[in-house]
Amino acid sequence: MEERGYYGQFGGAYVPESLVATFDELESAFRAAKADPTFWADYETLMSSYSCRPTPITFAENLTQHFGGARIYIKREDLNHTGAHKANNVMGQGLLVKRMGKRRVIAETGAGQHGVATATMAAKFGFECTVYMGEVDVARQRPNVFWMERLGAAVVPVTEGSRTLKDAINEAFRDWVSSMDTTHYVLGTACGPHPFPEMVSYFQSIIGREARGQIMKLTGKLPSRVYACVGGGSNAMGIFSGFFDDAGVGLVGVEAGGRGLDTGEHAARLCSNDASIGVAQGYKTYFLQNRDGQMNETHSVAAGLDYVGVSPILAHLKQRGRVRFEAATDREVVDALALTVRKEGIIPALESSHAFAQAFKEAPQLPSDAVILINQSGRGDKDIFTIADAFDDPSWRKFIADKAEAYRARG
Ligand SMILES: Cc1ncc(COP(=O)(O)O)c(C=O)c1O
Repeated sequence: MEERGYYGQFGGAYVPESLVATFDELESAFRAAKADPTFWADYETLMSSYSCRPTPITFAENLTQHFGGARIYIKREDLNHTGAHKANNVMGQGLLVKRMGKRRVIAETGAGQHGVATATMAAKFGFECTVYMGEVDVARQRPNVFWMERLGAAVVPVTEGSRTLKDAINEAFRDWVSSMDTTHYVLGTACGPHPFPEMVSYFQSIIGREARGQIMKLTGKLPSRVYACVGGGSNAMGIFSGFFDDAGVGLVGVEAGGRGLDTGEHAARLCSNDASIGVAQGYKTYFLQNRDGQMNETHSVAAGLDYVGVSPILAHLKQRGRVRFEAATDREVVDALALTVRKEGIIPALESSHAFAQAFKEAPQLPSDAVILINQSGRGDKDIFTIADAFDDPSWRKFIADKAEAYRARG
């Protein structure tokens, strides 16, 4: 960060007058927590007793043999409580909410992972919780909605705009304007107005802190390249931050190539020519928008990567040439997922499978003594409906049809 909340020309805090005091309060609480060594110690204790930290690194021996190039290692963020890296951020913000003395949390969610993680944190800390979710995402991620409700959260379907993640974020901000005295907005990724990009990246940096030491211990060297998928950018910021100062380590962010970069049906902001710099949702970054600044429809097989903006920190790191951005198409992603399941017995989330797909393209070109590290941001169980459709599995279709028939018969 060069100037308050800015990373080069990106970032800032474009917030309504009525929220300025709330953002100042949040920033002060965050600075005080960061300066207090007991805060990080409490955070680590919580994450080790409640969320399986430190997560391990797994050597993907069979995939390495299959590709015949670099040795492939996987950082296992899927083993976090609730199945994804989202827990790192929400538990950290939960501790901060306790320090601020607030009693209610709100969140936006796309794939539902961040919503489930926030509802889980609220259940544990005894907070009231409301989650905003686009109506389209409510329909395609019903199992996550089911769990959020069981965890005690009120899930509000958002019917504005394209009824996806960006609309859920707008609705959460609307709530916050009228509830800021009692409520904290748990933003789920390294986007939004300052201090969210910095704060979310700080909590996710636990991934990179662990990973650097673990890979050195396992292999005696630093990786040649580190791969992470990029939605808003939080898991990428988390793992990359462990290696920013290691000039020899290539950092590769993988965006949603959807149906192909030439189709316009994707969510690639940093590696396509379809995005331009703008201000929306309280910060400045690359957005997939039209000439009038209206947000475009995005597409990805992975709901968690289906977003119009991207972390201002990553936009800056791209401009400085520190992170390279690539895209993987839906087809490449499903193939990478299928291969990983068969070869390693590991089911990556569709989001994480973008990082796998790109690593698989590059691993064969690297020498056999090179090491590459993939961040597996989450586990794929949540994607069973989408994956079964992608494989066109007839037994699965019959199972769902029979279930529907049984529900219909019950009335
Ligand atoms: C498993 C998983 N990975 C990655 C992402 C993308 O988010 P981010 O770019 O903030 O890591 C999501 C978002 O929902 C997710 O659920």
